[in-house]
Amino acid sequence: MAQRVLPDLNARGSTATSTAGTGASVELLAATDPRWLEAVLADFPAFLRDHASCEKKASGMALAMAAHYPDRPALLAAMADLAAEELGHYREVVRLLVERDLQPGPDVRDPYVNALNAEVRRGSMEYLLDRLLVGAVVERRGAERFGLVADAHPEPGLRKFYRAIAASEGRHWQTFLELAVHECPEQDVGERLNTLLVREADIVGALPVRAALH
Ligand SMILES: [Fe+2]
Ligand SMILES: [Fe+2]
Repeated sequence: MAQRVLPDLNARGSTATSTAGTGASVELLAATDPRWLEAVLADFPAFLRDHASCEKKASGMALAMAAHYPDRPALLAAMADLAAEELGHYREVVRLLVERDLQPGPDVRDPYVNALNAEVRRGSMEYLLDRLLVGAVVERRGAERFGLVADAHPEPGLRKFYRAIAASEGRHWQTFLELAVHECPEQDVGERLNTLLVREADIVGALPVRAALH
């Protein structure tokens, strides 16, 4: 029987900021500009529409990773779990939209994710490592921003919802980092992660402030 080498994404509990056994962590180099939260709270319907789109794209990204690496069982299993969990998030956000008589918007390219994906290198091992670390960084920023919404939204129900979403995205970045350590040469992970975090801080600082996740 195949050994399960990764934690169940649906498991509750750990909110630790480092990955067990490796000491590895994803520490953002720039906190989100406070004007971002102001923009989100000033047009929460726009944020919700974008959030639905982000969850759907996150699920699709996990499915694409699973399809790309059918020969890596730990990665395949983790991406199947992730695709299902992100789709669950999408379903929950769609319910919030419907309750508010809002419609999801069209899926548009996310400039933040596009800019990070542009950093992904060619070469099979470089490509795999970069895809996993970009995933870790995107999830880490998502966890930070959903946590900001959870702390600040005036509606208790939405505070609770975004607290759960933030915890979930927090588990996702740990999963991506664990996969990077598991699937790639461990000595490459930290250096490449630092490079991508520097780039991420530049990207996030250059984006316009708007009522969207990025
Ligand atoms: Fe999600
Ligand atoms: Fe996620």
